Amino acid sequence: MSHFIVKAINSLHAELSVPGDKSMSHRAAIIAGLAQGDSVIRNFLPSEDCLNTLHAMAAAGVEYDVLEELEGYGPTALRIHGRKGKLQAPQNPIDCGNSGTGMRLLAGLLAAQPFTCELFGDESLSSRPMGRVITPLSQMGAEIEAMGEKPGCAPLRIHGKMLQPTTYTMPVASAQVKSAVLLAGLFCEGVTTVVQPAETRDHTERMLEAFGVKTEREGQAIHLSGGQIPLARDFRVPGDISSAAFWIVAAAAMPGSRLLIRNVGLNSTRTAVIDVIRRMGAKITVVSSSSQDGEPMGDLEICGAALTGTEIFPQEVPNLIDEIPVIAVAAAMAQGKTVIRNAKELRVKETDRITTVVNNLRSMGGEVEEFEDGMVITGGHPLHGAVMQSYGDHRIAMAFAIAGLFASGETVMENTDCVNTSYPGFARHLAAVMQESTDPQAYQIPILSPSH
Ligand code: S3P
Repeated sequence: MSHFIVKAINSLHAELSVPGDKSMSHRAAIIAGLAQGDSVIRNFLPSEDCLNTLHAMAAAGVEYDVLEELEGYGPTALRIHGRKGKLQAPQNPIDCGNSGTGMRLLAGLLAAQPFTCELFGDESLSSRPMGRVITPLSQMGAEIEAMGEKPGCAPLRIHGKMLQPTTYTMPVASAQVKSAVLLAGLFCEGVTTVVQPAETRDHTERMLEAFGVKTEREGQAIHLSGGQIPLARDFRVPGDISSAAFWIVAAAAMPGSRLLIRNVGLNSTRTAVIDVIRRMGAKITVVSSSSQDGEPMGDLEICGAALTGTEIFPQEVPNLIDEIPVIAVAAAMAQGKTVIRNAKELRVKETDRITTVVNNLRSMGGEVEEFEDGMVITGGHPLHGAVMQSYGDHRIAMAFAIAGLFASGETVMENTDCVNTSYPGFARHLAAVMQESTDPQAYQIPILSPSH
């Protein structure tokens, strides 16, 4: 089992790009697989989560050619031969690994197909709530059995059938649930509507639109008329802002640092992490921006500063739910209190991220009070190195590797294989940051590309 050994650095002067966006890569595998014609997907994220979704689509009959590959991981450019909306029955149960996004989106898609199939995942995924997709899909007439040891949990046996459109108001703001219902709605006759209680990431709507499928937005309601078949097109996935967030925090909380992150997704349903870190006092500038294949992207410059604590607004939480572990690290480095509440959803992520963040922060000497729906961190206490657990959660492993860059002594993060679920190459970037930090000249971390 691999681990990271991290030592403190004084400042960060780097230019880097992060691998492709995880949320978009899942959706690209699914939507291009359903499309009429062939699509080339570039900068696909070859992480375990997204590869599982790609393999799931392959099990349902979607063929693809690998055009470029990141050695040791998987394809970064693919030609996907769409099946014009007609999938075939997978021969075996489908492994979704660690991915809630994969399982929930596939559940929506497969509930509407004329065959029975099964989805399963690892131990963490088998304890995450699937009732949140089973409920709306059942309302559409789907038949899904949750066969897990825990009620409402995977494995899921999905008896696919013709579904009816519905209007579903989500009790929790979840892009995964919204996307599952919209993907099922593609196969219904009539209009499917999802109403979200707060803004959630809108990659499904944007990507459907880019592939020629019309959706309509009315306040927080999204309408989709069934029977539309996506039209193949080429799509380039921007860098993942959730992966960039680790380096944003590393640079932002280190006065004198300057970091340039290139080609990162800047969709406004994902950029609350930038707003929060700016509020804490770091200077973050969008130095160039453009829109590519329906998704905003650009380059970000981050200049480090002495940070101060902040309060996360309730409406920001769905927009930065994946970044909260590393924001907690920034909070530990900031003077004063940072209040993170209304974030109970953190308890049903890959781990209970309130408990795992609190445990790790405390083991490094951080002051943090735990609440059922979040935490309050009193920053400014010097962190010390510790031996820490990732708990098998990629974002916990990476967030506390970043904390190690600020801590005295040595930080050991154990069980780090899990970072491959979202950030292949993180270990190499971390090593480059530690090695080069002594060089006062600005330097470049090699951009993650198939040749590296
Ligand atoms: C995701 C949505 C979020 C996020 C997850 C990816 C997606 O989950 O935490 O990592 O791609 O739709 P919820 O929508 O369930 O909050």
